[in-house]
Amino acid sequence: MVSITNLLKEPRHSQFIKKLIPWTIYALLPIALFRLYFHPVHLPDSPIHRTPQIIASSSSSSSSSSSSSSSSLSPPHFSPSSVHEEEEEVNAINETPCDYTDGQWVPDKLGPLYNGSTCGTIKDAQNCLAHGRSDLGYLYWRWKPHKCSLPRFDPSKFFHLMTNKHIAFIGDSMARNQLESLLCILASVSTPELVYTSGEDNKFRRWNFPSHNLTVSVYWSPFLVDGIEKSNAGPNHNELFLHRVNEKWAVDLDGFNLVVFSIGHWYLHPAVYYEGDDSIMGCHYCPGLNHTEIGFYDALRKGLRTTFEAVIDRRGSSSSNELGIFLATFSPSHFEGEWDKAGACPKTKPYKESEKKLEGMDAEIRAIEVEEVEEAKGRAKQSGGLRIAALDVTKVSLLRPDGHPGPYMHPFPYGNGGVGERVQNDCVHWCLPGPVDTWNEILLQIMNSWEQQSGL
Ligand SMILES: *[C@@H]1O[C@H](CO)[C@@H](O)[C@H](O)[C@H]1NC(C)=O
Ligand SMILES: *[C@@H]1O[C@H](CO)[C@@H](O)[C@H](O)[C@H]1NC(C)=O
Ligand SMILES: *[C@@H]1O[C@H](CO)[C@@H](O)[C@H](O)[C@H]1NC(C)=O
Repeated sequence: MVSITNLLKEPRHSQFIKKLIPWTIYALLPIALFRLYFHPVHLPDSPIHRTPQIIASSSSSSSSSSSSSSSSLSPPHFSPSSVHEEEEEVNAINETPCDYTDGQWVPDKLGPLYNGSTCGTIKDAQNCLAHGRSDLGYLYWRWKPHKCSLPRFDPSKFFHLMTNKHIAFIGDSMARNQLESLLCILASVSTPELVYTSGEDNKFRRWNFPSHNLTVSVYWSPFLVDGIEKSNAGPNHNELFLHRVNEKWAVDLDGFNLVVFSIGHWYLHPAVYYEGDDSIMGCHYCPGLNHTEIGFYDALRKGLRTTFEAVIDRRGSSSSNELGIFLATFSPSHFEGEWDKAGACPKTKPYKESEKKLEGMDAEIRAIEVEEVEEAKGRAKQSGGLRIAALDVTKVSLLRPDGHPGPYMHPFPYGNGGVGERVQNDCVHWCLPGPVDTWNEILLQIMNSWEQQSGL
């Protein structure tokens, strides 16, 4: 393997070097760990839910209802917070759109939106409570934007907006993480049925909530564009075809009303990039292959550009459905030490805003994503019934080093061998319940604002 210093010997310019360093570290993460982190779940096909069925009323749709109805859905020992109600009044008066990215985590006595031990759709490796995580402080925080409020997720509001509609999460394991959060939140009031599953490790799954005929899907597509994933059997680097989208999801585009794209981490790993007539554009960390090293930032940008272009082009002529597209921005990881040493992400509290700045690779990836969304928004204007937005969760997530499974990706990691044993840590994904639930709260608020403007 070529060392970092060897790579740095042939700089093209200093800017390039600055970009090279962070992702080289990612490139060196062992492949075994990589596969654990970024591959989808094994889940039982059925039954997926054991929660008691309480059908939510779909009529309580006014924004003022969210505080009262969400509190009635909470476990009985939680009491509604009057703070939420005051903030909502402020929001109603303030007509400027809320900047949900500008905020901080504040203590919240209400706690999680659902009971992780009774929601059947959490991947084991993210079911931290079930795996024996005993510090529970990470469950009692909520995101507080500085200039507005973020209401607690109101499942009945979501069902109301999405009755007879289809939401698809498309991307890598962060897409799955967010999907599983949404399913658990919704399942706290209405039971979904798993109606479709396919692919190794259930890469493609679909549920229907009969109470509202809401369909929820997840599509495994870690590049969004076409690609070949690295594997033990195939190439030991990814191969990306940056000029064409992955048809696994694209063929179903007409059936979606809402899409959440969520990618990023798979772009950090060794890859060869193709463009045009499948000619090689360059590579990222491919020693021995004699291709030009081009890093992954341009590839990510091109992949996103191709994706949005495909969505806009295909919508242009055919569909009558309204379609909303979100791109969830990059979710930073929080490794502080070696990935296989106890306590690789040991923090038990969020960062304060002043403690952690968004910078380096996390900031760069987010910037590319936000720019590509803005670019696509401009082009989408000609295409009727299509909306595009960033679900900007990078800062929200950056400030939550305490929300990862860490060693609790394994059941009771300290149960037998005791502390000090080398154990893999997941400081990339999020415990469920956990910070990723807030992503869905922000998603719902943007959906809500769209509906108030002109219908979803
Ligand atoms: C979650 O559900 C389990 C099983 O019903 C119960 O024992 C536990 O107390 C619940 N946890 C919370 C936080 O309500
Ligand atoms: C259920 O929703 C789908 C769209 O997701 C729609 O095509 C279908 O007609 C709906 N079924 C009923 C019975 O309304
Ligand atoms: C590497 O590529 C260059 C330029 O395409 C070519 O001149 C050279 O022969 C190649 N080297 C190997 C070992 O293939």
